[in-house]
Amino acid sequence: MRCVAIEGPKKLKIDNREPKTGKKGYILIDVIKAGICGSDIHYWVNGEPKGLVMGHEFSGIVIDNGGSKEFREGDRVTALPISPCLKCEECKSGEIQICSHTWESAIGLSLDNPGGFGGRVLVREDMVRHLPDNVTYENGAMVEPAAVALRAANISGVKRGDKCLVIGGGIIGLLTAMFLRLKGAEYVCLTETNAKRGEKSVKLGVANEWFNALDPKITERLMAKTRNGNGFDVVCDCVGNSIALTNAITYTKPNGNLIMVGISLSAVNVPLVSAVLKEINIKGSIAYKKIEFDTVIKLLETKKINLEKFCDDIVTLDDVQASFERLTSGNDDAVKILVDPNKNKIVEI
Ligand SMILES: NC(=O)c1ccc[n+]([C@@H]2O[C@H](COP(=O)([O-])OP(=O)(O)OC[C@H]3O[C@@H](n4cnc5c(N)ncnc54)[C@H](O)[C@@H]3O)[C@@H](O)[C@H]2O)c1
Ligand SMILES: [Zn+2]
Ligand SMILES: [Zn+2]
Repeated sequence: MRCVAIEGPKKLKIDNREPKTGKKGYILIDVIKAGICGSDIHYWVNGEPKGLVMGHEFSGIVIDNGGSKEFREGDRVTALPISPCLKCEECKSGEIQICSHTWESAIGLSLDNPGGFGGRVLVREDMVRHLPDNVTYENGAMVEPAAVALRAANISGVKRGDKCLVIGGGIIGLLTAMFLRLKGAEYVCLTETNAKRGEKSVKLGVANEWFNALDPKITERLMAKTRNGNGFDVVCDCVGNSIALTNAITYTKPNGNLIMVGISLSAVNVPLVSAVLKEINIKGSIAYKKIEFDTVIKLLETKKINLEKFCDDIVTLDDVQASFERLTSGNDDAVKILVDPNKNKIVEI
């Protein structure tokens, strides 16, 4: 079966692998749509691990139900790509996102469990979710990143009337801004180094305003938007590098909440003394609880949110390499590209 795999730094190749087959207790899914995520971009840039088939955000059709009573062949589904152990203290208290096993064989993030860019995924039954009839495959493939953003907004402690800042307008930043507003923030602004993405945050209605992170006067412009020029109640860093985190500390008000959503694979350097002097509450946010994933599906079903509007393009496996290049060009407005891995599939006769 055709798939796209990592070959080296910024290099993907079309490969051919044995198709995944069914297994008891697992749901075999033909992938209809799979999203390219900012985390995939880290792997792509580093070219590691070689041979990885990415695609942890997906929707599709069940083709083997592994003996399940709940899922039938033909069902439309999406899934949490993670593998919590369900035995540890964290899992037992519902905190599956911080189980130390959760990423061990995560789909599309580990070599032993190829993701959506391979056309087929095999998922533990308890991680699979039905897609309501009125939720499209495009929306279904975006439940995962939206659940990441919902978690960030949930743990940000945002209160009605708060003024919030989101750093980074990739899909995670855009969706985090969306949920901060849905949860009652009075004002949400976003900073970006890519003007096209910044403008998009306002056009899509998730940010009240955006600011160019490269503007030398950005600090005074941003602080002027906060109460008494004191800083934002909530700052969500959706970038993860030293510059973004340093800015996040600067722009958070004393005793404000700084949520780290962005991830850097290397160590970052930040002026922590400033965070100490302001007694900032810094908290990491990783993935989602099951309830957050399920809430996103409910919000889609009830039309409270629409994720499709964030999707810029749908490509075939042949265009995945070009899509990674487009997403990292720094001057393109695309934030989310979905892959249809089974489009143009050669039908064997
Ligand atoms: N915590 C989690 O569970 C989780 C889940 C998914 C992704 N992530 C991470 O979140 C981050 C964002 O993901 P994404 O898919 O939106 O990625 P992305 O790469 O598409 O978006 C990052 C954006 O940040 C902008 N940027 C870079 N430097 C900046 C700066 N100094 N100030 C303002 N903007 C800046 C870039 O132009 C880009 O638009 C990534 O690091 C990703 O690995 C975390
Ligand atoms: Zn993702
Ligand atoms: Zn566990």
